Amino acid sequence: MRIKVILKSMTIGTMALTILSCEYNVENEEIQVDGECETPVLYGETIRPLIDSNCMPCHNGDGSEPFAPNLTTYNGVAGIAGLIKDVTQSRAMPKEGSLTMAEITAIKCWVDDGAMNN
Ligand code: HEC
Repeated sequence: MRIKVILKSMTIGTMALTILSCEYNVENEEIQVDGECETPVLYGETIRPLIDSNCMPCHNGDGSEPFAPNLTTYNGVAGIAGLIKDVTQSRAMPKEGSLTMAEITAIKCWVDDGAMNN
């Protein structure tokens, strides 16, 4: 349910950006949209599973990728949240993979919102 709302809000957000990024208000019963990060992105519900499925092959701290920061714990992720946002925005990560636009935006919103353990 929440994912549906996030996706919906991001679709509208993208449209707003495309049109001119300024004052584009959409009437909506469920959410108030005036930016792409209106719906809080939760670590436990969205970010942790996203990292588990896209980053763990290399960022599991088992030593096989010594230069890949350990992302197995919340502290490991939150400690370099800004960097994680940057490398996903630039699509430098995941190495040998890719995230959807919705996933990239979810990370950005979670980081911009303080990278909370929520
Ligand atoms: C196929 C292996 C692989 C996957 C999958 C992967 N990474 Fe990496 N990552 C690396 C390696 C290796 C490095 C060390 C630096 C380098 O070689 O680019 C790295 C470095 C990083 C860094 C540090 C960059 C820096 O400038 O110091 C961050 C942050 C990062 N990865 C985030 C992620 C995130 C988030 C994901 C999942 C969405 C992910 N990575 C998926 C292999 C991977």
